[in-house]
Amino acid sequence: MVALHRHLESRRTDGKTTTAVNLAASLAHDRHHTTLLVDCDLKRPSIADIFGIEPAYGVDDVLRGDARVDQCLHHPRASSAWW
Ligand SMILES: Nc1ncnc2c1ncn2[C@@H]1O[C@H](COP(=O)(O)OP(=O)(O)O)[C@@H](O)[C@H]1O
Ligand SMILES: [Mg+2]
Repeated sequence: MVALHRHLESRRTDGKTTTAVNLAASLAHDRHHTTLLVDCDLKRPSIADIFGIEPAYGVDDVLRGDARVDQCLHHPRASSAWW
C-alpha cells in the first residue's frame, strides 16, 4: 500500500486516501486482519477527519522522538465514522 501511495502521490484528490481507507476497512472487516492505517501525508493529513478523531500526536511526532507509537493509536470502533 505504501508503494501504491507513493506511485500516485503526484496529484491531489486522485483518491489515494479514499483507496487506503477502504482497503484498510476491507482487510479489517472481511479477513479479520489486525490492520494499521497510517496517514503519512504530512502536508494534508485527512484520515483523522474521516474517522472523526482529533489526535494529539502523529507520525511526525514519532519520527522526531516526541511521542511513542502507542500514543498515536486510535481504535476505529471508537469512532462514529467507522462502519
Ligand atoms: N472513486 C471515487 N469516486 C468519486 N469520488 C471519489 C472517489 N475517490 C475519491 N473521491 C473523492 O475525491 C476527493 C479526494 O479524494 P482523496 O481520497 O482525499 O484524494 P487524495 O488522498 O488522493 O488527495 C474526496 O472528496 C473523495 O470523496
Ligand atoms: Mg489524501
